[in-house]
Amino acid sequence: MSSTIESVLHENRHFPPSAEFAAKARVSGMEAYHALCRQAAEDYEGFWAGLARERLSWKRPFTQVLDESNAPFYSWFADGELNVSYNCLDRHLPELANKLAIIFESDNGTVTRVTYAELHRKVCQLANGLKSLGITKGDRVLVYMPMSIEAVVAMQACARIGAIHSVVFGGFSAKSVNERIIDAKARLVITANSGVRGGKIVALKDTVDEALAMGGCESVERVVVFKRVLHEDGPWTLGRDIWWHDLVAKQPEVCEPTWVLADDPLFILYTSGSTGKPKGVQHSSAGYLLGAVNSMLWTFDYKPDDVFWCTADVGWITGHTYVAYGPLAVGATQVIFEGVPTYPDAGRFWKMIEEHRVTTFYTAPTAIRSLIKLGGELPKQYNLSSLRLLGSVGEPINPEAWIWYHEVVGGGRCPIVDTWWQTETGGHMITPLPGAVATKPGSCTFPLPGIMADVVDEAGEPVELGKGGILVIKRPFPSQVRTLWGDPERFKKSYFPEEFNGKYYLAGDSANRDAEGYFWIMGRIDDVLNVSGHRLGTMEIESALVANPQVAEAAVVGRPDAIKGESVVAFVVLKGARPSGAEAKALVAELRDWVAKEIGAIAKPDDIRFGDNLPKTRSGKIMRRLLRAIAKGESITQDTSTLENPAILTQLQEAN
Ligand code: WTA
Repeated sequence: MSSTIESVLHENRHFPPSAEFAAKARVSGMEAYHALCRQAAEDYEGFWAGLARERLSWKRPFTQVLDESNAPFYSWFADGELNVSYNCLDRHLPELANKLAIIFESDNGTVTRVTYAELHRKVCQLANGLKSLGITKGDRVLVYMPMSIEAVVAMQACARIGAIHSVVFGGFSAKSVNERIIDAKARLVITANSGVRGGKIVALKDTVDEALAMGGCESVERVVVFKRVLHEDGPWTLGRDIWWHDLVAKQPEVCEPTWVLADDPLFILYTSGSTGKPKGVQHSSAGYLLGAVNSMLWTFDYKPDDVFWCTADVGWITGHTYVAYGPLAVGATQVIFEGVPTYPDAGRFWKMIEEHRVTTFYTAPTAIRSLIKLGGELPKQYNLSSLRLLGSVGEPINPEAWIWYHEVVGGGRCPIVDTWWQTETGGHMITPLPGAVATKPGSCTFPLPGIMADVVDEAGEPVELGKGGILVIKRPFPSQVRTLWGDPERFKKSYFPEEFNGKYYLAGDSANRDAEGYFWIMGRIDDVLNVSGHRLGTMEIESALVANPQVAEAAVVGRPDAIKGESVVAFVVLKGARPSGAEAKALVAELRDWVAKEIGAIAKPDDIRFGDNLPKTRSGKIMRRLLRAIAKGESITQDTSTLENPAILTQLQEAN
């Protein structure tokens, strides 16, 4: 990462929006952006209330705006009533019934299209099906689905009846599914018999079976199974498992939405934090949806004839906000893709952009970097002239990748919105408004109107421009996390620490503002890694390793990686003797698979090194900065005088 940061800090090229783009943009020019920011600063509540009235459809209008009486458990629009699925579907039907809502392309290239009227019908039927199984408002439903129209239908159907979904990324293991079911006490699981990615079958239902068999899942009454592929299915548990097509077959095509209060939870999404246990980030209905709509309009400058494509999986926050909710809430046509960017070859994204005439393309720097490596010239073979706007999300984008994205994919004419935000913020926070802000490669530029972001020191005092510090949001905003499911204390401690009087939202990132006030994100300040844009807790991987009977102790650190941003390096102390040669190699493979089973393949360490012990201070604290240096292959220049066992450094440097 340090080389990226170096190049980022010396980056000073400006890319203002073209006059043509700016002329048509919803927010055109810096004056218009500043005017919105001023409005928010002068009348904070009035600003948000105005947007919430204008951009959301309410069953019962709210009379309260921000309630800070139980800070930091902030409440927005508390007495208003609405339904998120109504906002995403029903309200468009008078005008957009026959507009395409989703263009779904499967792994093997089959394309399925659904209109708003058809999507509405599918959601209503599943919602009625869920009701027939006794699912009601407030119940938790775990969704473990491949990328598909049905994944969105499942989420929308939950929203329609006020059930709280907890989507788990299809790459997570049975153990992870099990833990999430237990934590949320899910009553129902929605899955598919399989998914297909890169030509390979992913047996989701088998994983759900395994998760349920691990115990502790007594809360689960039924498992709804979508038949995605025709193949011989695994065991069927009578009375528990039910095919999706059977469930919806005779259901009415209309389902009256269940009206919920603005702050009633829409979903829980588990994400990694600094401790071993993933946190169940709980989002509201109205505030979250407002964040999704605002960013569709501001960041993506949404236009009715756009074809929007966000490549994220619905298992992550990006797939929640910019696949399952945001595009539908504004009535957009969007592309959903089942597969992977490299199958059947590295031209897949570009081919799909050409075929579906995509106008707005939103992906992660990791994907961009790997596609540059696999075929930097490939985009030129496709007609990408439909594109008008590009987006980046999930991790810092290095200027080299930015410039390639801009030139080769965007033909030099499309603004790039580098969007900084988090699972906890629900929607974009710091990002260019493409018709206003001159972008700089590697900077997420300025906060959206109404987002009071700042960079402060340890005491919470703003730092001078040009000096790095801690990224905070100084005022509550509608789309922010409401609490951590079942753990309000951890919510307070994680995000509103005492150091800042419990007032500032602590993002967990460090940042720098340059002389012109542009924000540059420098990376996490906690023990969270960002591997291919995915959040992983070092403690989470350590706990997984230590759960192996052969492992006595483990420490995990990140190492800069040219493609993935960061890779996972684990230092492991075994209960038995330290292995070498072929034996060590075999154990490395075994432990990698072990982590994949405990968490998921995304968490597999890239490098595992065995030591007789770990570098510790005399008080027993593992010195991670030394491990980070060893992982990078750097010579150790840091002070090691407080180290209990200096000889271990040489051993770990030489290991494997
Ligand atoms: C990082 C993903 C730099 C950051 C939406 C944040 C970024 C974490 C950017 C959240 C960006 C996300 N530039 N860093 N544009 N976007 N991050 O919860 O460290 O999976 O705290 O949400 O990703 O990851 P999460």
